[in-house]
Amino acid sequence: MSFAIRAFLLLFSAGLCHGARDSPGFKVKAVNLGGWLVTEGWILPSLFDGIPNKDFLDGTGLQFKSVMVGKYLCAESGGGSIVVANRSSASGWETFSLWRINEVTFNFRVFNKQFVGYTSGNEVVAVSKTTGVQETFEIVRKPDDPNRVKIKASNGMFLQVKTEELVTADYSGEGGWGDDDPSVFVITVTGQLHGEFQLTNGYGLKKAAQVMREHWSTYIVEDDFKFMSQNGINAVRIPVGWWIAKDPSPPEPFVGGSLSALDNAFTWAETHGIKVIIDLHAAPGSQNGFEHSSSRDGSQEWGKTDTNIQDTVAVIDFLSARYAERPGLYAMELINEPLAPGVTLDALTKYYKSGYDAVRRHSSSAYVVLSNRLGPADPKELFPLTSGMSLSVVDVHYYNLYTSEFNGLTAQQNIDFVYRNRSSQLSYITTASGPLTFVGEWVAEWQVNGASKDEYQRFGSAQMQVYGRATFGWAYWTLKNVNNHWSLEWMINNGYIKL
Ligand SMILES: *[C@@H]1O[C@H](CO)[C@@H](O)[C@H](O)[C@H]1NC(C)=O
Ligand SMILES: *[C@@H]1O[C@H](CO)[C@@H](O)[C@H](O)[C@H]1NC(C)=O
Repeated sequence: MSFAIRAFLLLFSAGLCHGARDSPGFKVKAVNLGGWLVTEGWILPSLFDGIPNKDFLDGTGLQFKSVMVGKYLCAESGGGSIVVANRSSASGWETFSLWRINEVTFNFRVFNKQFVGYTSGNEVVAVSKTTGVQETFEIVRKPDDPNRVKIKASNGMFLQVKTEELVTADYSGEGGWGDDDPSVFVITVTGQLHGEFQLTNGYGLKKAAQVMREHWSTYIVEDDFKFMSQNGINAVRIPVGWWIAKDPSPPEPFVGGSLSALDNAFTWAETHGIKVIIDLHAAPGSQNGFEHSSSRDGSQEWGKTDTNIQDTVAVIDFLSARYAERPGLYAMELINEPLAPGVTLDALTKYYKSGYDAVRRHSSSAYVVLSNRLGPADPKELFPLTSGMSLSVVDVHYYNLYTSEFNGLTAQQNIDFVYRNRSSQLSYITTASGPLTFVGEWVAEWQVNGASKDEYQRFGSAQMQVYGRATFGWAYWTLKNVNNHWSLEWMINNGYIKL
């Protein structure tokens, strides 16, 4: 064979396998470094232990039942009107979401996103879209019963239920905590978030900086990369938050230091032959409202303005510029789990185009990973977009969890589901001319109670076998986790998973 023909064949086959970085057939067997540079409380709850009043973090949903009238506070119409105390049951309009100022002082955000405040006539309303002194309240808890509270306004007076239809900020009585006191409420906590915003704002700037730096430098260390490479893992997917691009002094409450942790990860990855997939897990404004995208109160604001999209592109540009020349860089994932319908296909398409260009400004060889939307969306909806992109990858997340279809399934039914349904879902998006496919998150955990080790092993192998057909590869969620089956480290060390 002449040199020219060999060279042609080489180029041709490299083209077929989407790039010349790796030998044909290379696939990532990756693990996510979840809970490291983007906080998720369920992965490591102890991080929150040192926060005073730690059940009152940003996004905590509170309902207030007046002990005197036995009815719940309600932002009439969900907001934009008065606050009353005439509801005998509580749901959305009766739920107030905390914005934490400090451990005892808060704003209360209502259903339609206004804040509770009071008028010059001391009437309690929920009309302001912004927060000021009159939207700031202290929650005073009864010392021996923290679910009994009074709410103190910035005028020094307590809120009181004058009548079921009139709540005012003018109660001066020192009073007691009895059922006849119009300023006493019993609270119900309806929901909590434990993300990076809650953690850092919960500690406050100074303490948060200390806690985060300690966490970043101890949770993932070089030995972890050694462990991964010795156990058959060839790549890591590293979730990062948008504030990493503002290091060392990101906007409050976020704190600097995650960037040097990511630098370290690159060094260790390169030393131990592990590839790095950077994953923008938390985009400004939150792309899904979950704590893992660092939403303050569960709202989802990402992608609603061009400025927000361009701010996000700037994060990708920053990270691409910084790491493009590093041999460890394998892929940039532009955003994790944007949620439909809040994130529209239009906004996402605009972002993906600009984000792709941002990566390509710095690297022609990094793969660009596009996460499919969660929620109601066609799994092939990104295909028209990716057809114009080189080295593009579509990321899907397969969990036998979170939806009712898995309720009551046996271990064997879960395993069958992987071989049948997951397999056909993956085949549907894995096509000769389309993007590469990546199962960027999966776990050997399910809703089966008391499953045996053997069942877990078979569930894990089934997934590795099926997801091994994804043309880019797969990534386990996650390396470390206090919930054992969610920890690949634990699963490997205890013989549940072998690569
Ligand atoms: C509560 O009071 C408001 C304001 O007067 C009124 O519009 C509403 O119908 C009342 N709701 C109930 C359930 O009594
Ligand atoms: C799984 O696939 C089977 C066979 O195609 C189908 O009957 C079933 O409805 C699917 N189950 C779910 C939950 O999608």
